[in-house]
Amino acid sequence: MSARRRLLVANWKMTRTPSAAAVLARTLASIPRSGEVELAIAPSFPALDRVGAALAGTGVALAAQDVYVEKEGAFTGEVSAAMLKDAGVTLVLVGHSERRLLRGEREPDFTRKIERLVEQGLAPVYCVGETRAERDAGRTAEVLRKQLAALDGFSVPPPGLTLAYEPVWAIGTGLPATPAMAVDVHARLRAEIAARFGPGVASSTRILYGGSVSPASAPGLFAEEEVDGGLVGNASLVAKDVAALLAAAAAPTPGAARS
Ligand code: PGA
Repeated sequence: MSARRRLLVANWKMTRTPSAAAVLARTLASIPRSGEVELAIAPSFPALDRVGAALAGTGVALAAQDVYVEKEGAFTGEVSAAMLKDAGVTLVLVGHSERRLLRGEREPDFTRKIERLVEQGLAPVYCVGETRAERDAGRTAEVLRKQLAALDGFSVPPPGLTLAYEPVWAIGTGLPATPAMAVDVHARLRAEIAARFGPGVASSTRILYGGSVSPASAPGLFAEEEVDGGLVGNASLVAKDVAALLAAAAAPTPGAARS
């Protein structure tokens, strides 16, 4: 029996102005949820305040899409972990493939970002995943190991650490990984966490799947015990899709009771 509560994180990326984000947040927060599933919303930085106000008292968590590597100072345009904390954020994405590909961020950056989050008591959602070329070349396991090296400097696990397996080829393409692919990678990631922090930490660490999670793909993915929820882009902007994802995440996993 898994003790891991399922989690859906809505990654709104660079969409929605603060006023539009507040309206959508209110709508999503009003969708009935089973207590078994947590929901978090990651709007753009300027929308955090309005979305945070919209989510107050709803039980939906406020998340951020990124954080800067430094604590404070002359870093024009950047946002610190302390600012996020003060804005009411509890979860922060680190290492999203769009930051890796478009901004050239690498594992040493992610280590520093996670350190900043730990200092503020914020939970990191560390995203990993291979490209299509890497998968086709049989390099998936090697790539994921290298990405997890961002956690090498931690002698104890970052509190609240969640992993998100997001194959780059599945993001925004409408072509999700199959449940079998996700299970295979999640099991490898869990083994890597066990090797670093021990089996107890591995069995309590949530591993989300991300990449074209939709009402069509979610039931199969969330039927798997290994899949602890989703990091969702496009579908997280559509209330009826979010309702379907929440229902799929709450549905009992065949052969494995969840608590
Ligand atoms: P998608 O994006 O659900 O639109 O594929 C997921 C993500 O990038 O986190």
